[in-house]
Amino acid sequence: MTLYITRRLPEPALSAIPADLVWKMWPESGTPIPRDELLRAVAGVEALVALVSERVDEALLTAAPRLRVVANMAVGVDNIDLAACRARGVIVTNTPDVLTETTADLAWALLLAAARRVVEGQKLIEAGGWGAWHPLFMTGQDVHGATLGVIGAGRIGGAVLRRGAGFGMRLLYHNRRPSAALEAATGAAYRDLDALMAESDHVVVCAPLTAETRGLIGARELALMKPTAVFVNVARGPVIDEAALIAALRAGRPWAAGIDVFEREPITPAHPLLALPNVVATPHVGSATVQTRIAMARLAVANALAVLRGDAPLTPVG
Ligand code: DGY
Repeated sequence: MTLYITRRLPEPALSAIPADLVWKMWPESGTPIPRDELLRAVAGVEALVALVSERVDEALLTAAPRLRVVANMAVGVDNIDLAACRARGVIVTNTPDVLTETTADLAWALLLAAARRVVEGQKLIEAGGWGAWHPLFMTGQDVHGATLGVIGAGRIGGAVLRRGAGFGMRLLYHNRRPSAALEAATGAAYRDLDALMAESDHVVVCAPLTAETRGLIGARELALMKPTAVFVNVARGPVIDEAALIAALRAGRPWAAGIDVFEREPITPAHPLLALPNVVATPHVGSATVQTRIAMARLAVANALAVLRGDAPLTPVG
């Protein structure tokens, strides 16, 4: 077998696979392939299309000695040991660009929902709690005209900032280093992390999970936020110290949060963040639109096929 795909992908992504290629796919779309089965399945493969649920590590690479490419169907590659792949000459690809705008949309959905108490409002109606109109009934925080701070202003973070301009916001960003190109494109101003946390009315985290960003936002950084601020994470759970975030939200600073990604996924209904009325939670769906997921699957397959043909991959990592 030449190509293995670790999850049933939407049909349009599969039509590009040449008829004479020997390939297999895990038949389930909702259930990941068990680890031991995956290690068996990759034994002779040259290309692997993987999802964020699959750990591509030394053990997998050892089980797949002929592997030439890991095509991740995600922009994040924190499920892949990049150094181990590099050491074995295995190419890694991801799916940037095709999900940028869709993920920025979700960041905004969470920001607006948390700031304007959208989910809390629906729950209140469902519980029969909608009484007489009164001046401070279900009051939230303004988003338009406020200061938006984006941590990790790459492609997705840049798209989040661009949307902020439409809301008349003052824009700040924090990256490892300032970017003149980003500033020219968005009008955002650079701040160090502490200044961004303190100055922003609302903060959106878009930074990839790396050794450098793991635990980037902890109790100290959260304590710098305004008591009226909304905190949004559409990046990866471990970029935030989740226990510190829970404690901070309980204490009312930040004021609310919109969270799409968690320290350990999937979370259960017993997760402490869900018990907080000031939290809007979604199940890691930043890129989850029909159009974008099909585009991601197509790109992942195209990357795998390009390497198998001996061509350069479309979107290599690093
Ligand atoms: C990504 O592309 O990294 C998304 O989070 C999908 O998991």
